[in-house]
Amino acid sequence: MNKIFKLFKSSPHSSLKWNNYFEIYETSLKKFINKKVTLVEIGVGNGGSLFMWKKFLGSKAKIIGVDLNPDAKKFEKFGFKIFIGDQADPNFWKKFYSKNGKIDILIDDGGHTNLQQITALMESIENIKNNGLIIIEDTHTSFMNYKGFKNPSDHSLINFTNKIIENLHRRNPMIKKKMNLFSKKISSIEYFDSIVIIKISKKKYGYSKNLHNNKKLNPYFTDYRFKRSIIKKNNSKISFLNFIKSKISKKGFLQGIYDNYLIKKYLDKLND
Ligand SMILES: C[S@@+](CC[C@H](N)C(=O)[O-])C[C@H]1O[C@@H](n2cnc3c(N)ncnc32)[C@H](O)[C@@H]1O
Repeated sequence: MNKIFKLFKSSPHSSLKWNNYFEIYETSLKKFINKKVTLVEIGVGNGGSLFMWKKFLGSKAKIIGVDLNPDAKKFEKFGFKIFIGDQADPNFWKKFYSKNGKIDILIDDGGHTNLQQITALMESIENIKNNGLIIIEDTHTSFMNYKGFKNPSDHSLINFTNKIIENLHRRNPMIKKKMNLFSKKISSIEYFDSIVIIKISKKKYGYSKNLHNNKKLNPYFTDYRFKRSIIKKNNSKISFLNFIKSKISKKGFLQGIYDNYLIKKYLDKLND
């Protein structure tokens, strides 16, 4: 049994987490143990997780809870700092960070709607310390169309982070796009079942460089990328396409149709 799960079980107050989260937390948070770090959890609930974070990270760690429910203030008597506010309100975050300064870890276990998740993420990116993490829980809500969640949609958290993935790839000059704040500040995004972890870097990334190991060696080779034969002759299942091939001489056009057909077959497996 991992340490954080034991602390979850032994917390003096109630907490609700999905069973796969503990291994993810153990791996992602162990580098912060016994360090002077600030962890902020959106969503106090019954307070159980506040105790778990504190025990896991150690006495030097500062644990802050954020909740819309004013009742959450009662956990201040246990040494936690609690801020009452709406995670979907940008002004709340502006005041929060101007008061608390930058933090190391943000865990979003609040309301889990698209706007709540996206606002907390976007208002926090510039307020996370070097190598700090934004951890968004319960991202399965990006695929839920009940309990008030109206997903899947273009505005789901998962689709929003897809755009961040594109922003990261702008570091590669082959994309020919201007880098923005997110291209420069975010080192990586990790996806798990129902958890997304975004790692923030202090260093500002520049454009990536393509390196050649040794300038004395000849870097040139014949690239066969587009030289493969269009259709394997012996594959009976695609004989119809062979027939089309014999009828249509525009090789590139036919290859495109055939590639899409193959990819679609793999995509269908993901939709199963
Ligand atoms: C599932 S509970 C949190 C559980 C707790 N983190 C744990 O692990 O035991 C979700 C909490 O998010 C709070 N919440 C919901 N919407 C919120 C919002 N817009 N801003 C801040 N907190 C919110 C709720 O009041 C509730 O206390």
